[in-house]
Amino acid sequence: MKTKIIHITTEVYESVFQLPKNIQELFHKAHQAREQAYAPYSRFKVGAAILLDSGEIVVGNNQENAAYPSGLCAERVAAYTAAANFPNQKITALAVVVGSHEEYLQKPAAPCGSCRQSLYEFEEKQKEPFSIFFPGEAGTIIKVNSVADLMPFAFGPDSL
Ligand code: THU
Repeated sequence: MKTKIIHITTEVYESVFQLPKNIQELFHKAHQAREQAYAPYSRFKVGAAILLDSGEIVVGNNQENAAYPSGLCAERVAAYTAAANFPNQKITALAVVVGSHEEYLQKPAAPCGSCRQSLYEFEEKQKEPFSIFFPGEAGTIIKVNSVADLMPFAFGPDSL
């Protein structure tokens, strides 16, 4: 038996103003997108903004459904919109913003497992990692350098 320790590097920022200007702009777009989320059931609105290597920004927000599992998270709406419209461009960064109607979220909310799985496919497809930034409504912003960092032992194209 061997023990293997997996190391993940994260960066923790105290404020969006510590981030580069293009990432601040990405957050601005994610907040705008969050306003348009359709989340009448959970009332937990999420906005996502993707920066492509062309500099283009593509946004998404959560889209819920009366048949609850038929809804989709903001990250996947953004990623699939990017793929549909700009199939040959690479994702360089993703910013996600959240907000609950019930409480003020003090700690960062990371993308859910299904989104991580979907985003991992993008990273494998483009053969380059991309950064993900996720804050709460207040407090710190976490940055990871790749989807793989959120997804140890991921199942991907190479697993088939
Ligand atoms: N949600 C997202 O949009 N992204 C995530 O990573 C986690 C959850 C959405 C799904 C649902 O509409 C609401 O937040 C509550 O779970």
